[in-house]
Amino acid sequence: MPDVIRRACIAAGLMLAVLWPIAALAQPAAGEQPVDQVMLSGDVTVARGTVVGEVVKFDPAEIAKKVKDYTLDLPADLVAKYTGKPAVIATSVITAELADIGKKLPPPMTPAEEAFDKVMKSVSAANTALQKGVSESSLELTKQQTTILKKNFMEAQLFFKNRGTADATGWAQDAYKFVDAIETAAVAGKWEDVQTSTKSLAGMCSTCHAQHRERMDDGTFRIKGSS
Ligand code: HEC
Repeated sequence: MPDVIRRACIAAGLMLAVLWPIAALAQPAAGEQPVDQVMLSGDVTVARGTVVGEVVKFDPAEIAKKVKDYTLDLPADLVAKYTGKPAVIATSVITAELADIGKKLPPPMTPAEEAFDKVMKSVSAANTALQKGVSESSLELTKQQTTILKKNFMEAQLFFKNRGTADATGWAQDAYKFVDAIETAAVAGKWEDVQTSTKSLAGMCSTCHAQHRERMDDGTFRIKGSS
């Protein structure tokens, strides 16, 4: 794919930015000697930027060993030309606007995963408000949030059931039960019991997240093993 091979002037020497899915072109620092640059993937041009990565001697076998999920895509003449020259295996390409365009983008979510993501964002907001309600012993605020959380954990239970994830289905069900217990105790004015169940609920968040939640390169969360 010759259209993904570009040459420009850079400060650091030949640069092989082995990035997925996009890479960037960099410009020389003022006054420095320009050298050839080859980018192996991507179609984004960055006027100025910072490249973070490992400096290696370019060798196709070495690149294959170091970057497992990347297939070297350079014509033979360029491989010959650059073999033995310094190269950078970039882990980050940070633009002047401080965006890191070298990160792997997570795969798109399925509609069901997207719906579940909204459920979790709602759980998060309701849980924060619930803690406030509990700390103030406010029945009104507590009940508002338990109503939302019960609906959310019902949806979560259904989501994991459809997905065939038995442990998470059980944990969503347990979370529902703790929310229900919080509500019952709050209505009865037993705020110590409310506190206890609130702690148990927080434990369910951690238990399920440890097993099924994954933080992506871009800082967003996904379900482990999602498509
Ligand atoms: C039965 C499993 C399960 C339980 C219980 C659970 N979560 Fe989650 N949560 C997940 C999974 C899986 C993700 C990652 C999927 C996603 O974010 O799209 C997630 C994501 C999140 C996120 C990130 C949302 C985002 O995308 O920004 C927050 C915040 C969150 N959960 C809060 C909570 C809180 C607070 C509780 C407890 C009150 C809780 N969760 C209980 C499974 C669970």
